[in-house]
Amino acid sequence: AAIEYELDAPYTVEYHDSIGSTNDRARELAVDGDRDIVVVADEQTGGRGRLERSWDSPPGGIWASAVLDPSLPAAHVPLVTLAAGVAVVDACRAVGVEATLKWPNDVLVGDDPDSDRGGQKLAGILTEMEGEADRVSWLLVGIGLNANIAREALPDGAASLQEQGGDVDRRAVLQTILESLSTLVAAPDTIIEQWRAYSSTLGRAVRVDTGREQIEGRAVDVQFPGALVVDTDSGEEVVHAGDCEHLRPV
Ligand code: BTN
Repeated sequence: AAIEYELDAPYTVEYHDSIGSTNDRARELAVDGDRDIVVVADEQTGGRGRLERSWDSPPGGIWASAVLDPSLPAAHVPLVTLAAGVAVVDACRAVGVEATLKWPNDVLVGDDPDSDRGGQKLAGILTEMEGEADRVSWLLVGIGLNANIAREALPDGAASLQEQGGDVDRRAVLQTILESLSTLVAAPDTIIEQWRAYSSTLGRAVRVDTGREQIEGRAVDVQFPGALVVDTDSGEEVVHAGDCEHLRPV
């Protein structure tokens, strides 16, 4: 049976056994003016990923969308995505799974240079917002973590916490994620430094596809508010997360 999440976290929880997408529900709440609320589901029937992809969300995962306080400049929004990644890695490491971050928003395990990503995908982040540069009207961050999901139910190239070390207490894992997220969002100056510490992208040779061009070189840094710096033959190129369709190790 599904677990009803009752959290002692800085967010109110709205729980669903099954829902289309927690991001869609969180958006309704955000538009209505709700803040500091997290929508959690045991299963999503229409989970969404970046770039209009679908996101497999069978029962047993952690599918959650947090409606945040949007009182920050829109230019800082990419930092929130990085913060969510850091928070997920914190929670994975707390249960003994050595996850890492692949820019801009993938949480990986393993280190497989032959795979398309350089590792298997354990979690993904989908941040959505509306507003202008000086005034964000709402902001939400969707987190999909393959928690208690068996190999057979995972898409190709994905991994789960269950596979890595057995079933986890999803309530406790989500609680760690949300506590870290709220701490990081309250201290934005600390986010990039923590992201760097968990990164499996920095220092690597990469090829970034922006849809318009391919940038090849060595990933040397992530800089405010979340752009990747690639050292190429013709100098340093700065790639913004929104422009990255694909990044692969080469
Ligand atoms: C990606 O890596 O493409 C992002 C995946 C984000 C998935 C999460 S699951 C909870 C929330 N609801 C959704 O429909 N998507 C996000």
